[in-house]
This record gives sequence, C-alpha cells and structure tokens, in this order.
Amino acid sequence: MQRAERFPGASVLLLLLLLAARVVTAFEPISVGIAIGAVSALTGYLSYKDVYCRFAECCREEQPLNASALKLDLEEKLFGQHVATEVILKALTGFRNNKSPKKPLTLSLHGWAGTGKNFVSQIVAENLHRKGLKSNFVHLFVSTLHFPHEQKIKLYQDQLQKWIRGNVSACANSVFIFDEMDKLHPGIIDAIKPFLDYYEQVDGVSYRKAIFIFLSNAGGDLITKTALDFWRAGRKREDIQLKDLEPVLSVGVFNNKHSGLWHSGLIDRNLIDYFIPFLPLEYRHVKMCVRAEMKARGSAVDEDVVTRVADEMTFFPKDEKIYSDKGCKTVQSRLDFH
Ligand SMILES: Nc1ncnc2c1ncn2[C@@H]1O[C@H](COP(=O)(O)OP(=O)(O)OP(=O)(O)O)[C@@H](O)[C@H]1O
Ligand SMILES: [Mg+2]
Repeated sequence: MQRAERFPGASVLLLLLLLAARVVTAFEPISVGIAIGAVSALTGYLSYKDVYCRFAECCREEQPLNASALKLDLEEKLFGQHVATEVILKALTGFRNNKSPKKPLTLSLHGWAGTGKNFVSQIVAENLHRKGLKSNFVHLFVSTLHFPHEQKIKLYQDQLQKWIRGNVSACANSVFIFDEMDKLHPGIIDAIKPFLDYYEQVDGVSYRKAIFIFLSNAGGDLITKTALDFWRAGRKREDIQLKDLEPVLSVGVFNNKHSGLWHSGLIDRNLIDYFIPFLPLEYRHVKMCVRAEMKARGSAVDEDVVTRVADEMTFFPKDEKIYSDKGCKTVQSRLDFH
C-alpha cells in the first residue's frame, strides 16, 4: 500500500472506490469482485489480493515478520521479563526467517500467576496476524473451558485434530495457544503431538509453518526461587539468564513424573523448541502495570493512585515481601475502586 501513498490522486480514488466496494460488500459477492477488480485496474499498481485483503482478513504466508515492531511492543509493554522478551524475539524471528522449517515452532511459557503469559501471547498473536486473538488464524484453547470432562477425551481428541488440520490447511501459519497446559489431560497432548513432530506432511497437510504456544504455571515456584536466590545474594534481576533457569525447569517440570508435560513425552521427543520462563513481578513492576492501565483508559497518570493500588497488592515471601502474589493480575479491577 506504500506505493499508493506516494501518489495522492490515486490514494483518493482508491479510497472512494474502496468505500463504494465496502457498501457493495453487504449485498453481493460478484459485485465486490468487480469493484475490487476495477480498483486494481484503475490504480494500476495494486494486486487483486492487496485490495481484497483490505476487506477480508488474509493469511499472508509470505509476509515477513516485522521483528523491530515486535521488539518495540515487547520492550514497551511487557514489564520485568527480560529473559522471556529475548527468547521470544529470537524464536519468532528465527522461525519466520526460515523459509523451510523442519517442524512447527513450539513455545512453552512458564511462570507464576499474573506475570504476563497470556499478555505476551496476545502481543505475539497481534504481530503475526493483524487481528491478534480475534484473527481467524489464531486459536486459543483453555483446558478447563474447552476440555472439561475426562470421560469425553476421545471426542475432544477427534474434534481438536480435525480443527487443527482444517485450520492449518486453510492457513499454514496458523497459531494455536493452549492455556492452562498443566491442567490439560495427557490424552489431549497426545492428540496434538503428531502435529508438532518433524513430519513433512501428515495426511497431505504440512504443519511446519504453524506455531503452537503452551502456557502453564508449572515451574513457576522454581523460577521464583531462583529469582529470590539472586535477590538474596545481592545480584541484579537483570543478570538472571536463561541458563540459570533451564536446569531448574528441567528438573522440576520435565523430569517430574507427576507433571502432565512429562507424561506426554513432549519433552523426551524434543518437540518443544523453547522453554520461556516468566519471572515473578516486584512492587516496581506492579506500579508500571498500574500506570499502563491508566494510560490505556485514557486518564492522566496519578502517582498517588499508582502507589495506593500497588500498596493494596500482597507480596511474598513473608519476611522480605518482594514479589506480588498475583503479579499484575488484579491491577485492572483494583483500579476501578480508585
Ligand atoms: N509482565 C507484565 N508486563 C505488563 N503487564 C503485565 C505483565 N504481567 C501481567 N500484566 C498485566 O496483567 C494482566 C494479567 O496477566 P496475564 O493474564 O498475562 O497473566 P498470566 O501470566 O497469564 O497469569 P496466570 O498464570 O494466572 O494465567 C495482563 O492482561 C496485563 O495487563
Ligand atoms: Mg494466564
């Protein structure tokens, strides 16, 4: 669309035709096709697809990821998660720059409540598909909501496999987010497993450009313990690196026989590409969340309110009171009372 912007006359014409076409959209698809064709022909330099994708959401597999936009989003919006920011950026840019990945990208996000796992998934989704979580190419599953009954596991498995297959056939770079992964029945994980593997195709469909994101609290306590050890040793939070957390996670989550993730064999088979730890949030991060929420509501930032909301949150461990019990999770509702 950049080319049209350099030529104002064409932009105006394009806009008028687009508006006309939008009115027509409500009536009849053939007219829409003609209108779009006319727009393309008249402007001379916009493809049918370019114009069509202004109306409907398109799966643009060839479109590269705007890595600097994602970086900026993460740096500006996500507080206190330097390890997660770095790994997510690396994982997504590497994957999307690879023209022929050998398997779909699988990310497993771990951490304490309210530390930004769903929030990051939303940012990632928006950077991959314009409409983010509302996109037809982004699918969010919540274990307790979508797969609540153990006796229906067979049905869920069947439905989920059909859903993934249908959606990846329609858009190769579909995104599937599984929330509450630690509460997901191992049978459901088994149903996803074939799609995550190094197959060129499964029943004629290639899953290699899809992205799977798993969210869980598993290992959150161990990540917190590591952060606390750093704090007690007088070391900076920003000095915590992935290599400080990986061994902790692998012992606590992946070698833990009570963990659903272990049972599913996802780890043994190396099907998860990146384990992404989320650190517990401190008082200063909670304050940042309050400020961000105020700005999002269009109000001026009032530091007295910021302090009051942050002071209402509860912090642990008992003696030091460093980390917020619920991260930033209740900030929004608490702000309603001020
Ligand atoms: N690190 C963060 N930076 C900025 N905002 C955050 C952060 N963590 C949480 N928030 C805010 O708090 C809200 C709740 O966080 P989110 O739902 O992402 O937590 P979660 O990690 O998924 O927690 P849970 O494990 O309980 O599901 C977000 O919508 C966001 O507004
Ligand atoms: Mg969550």
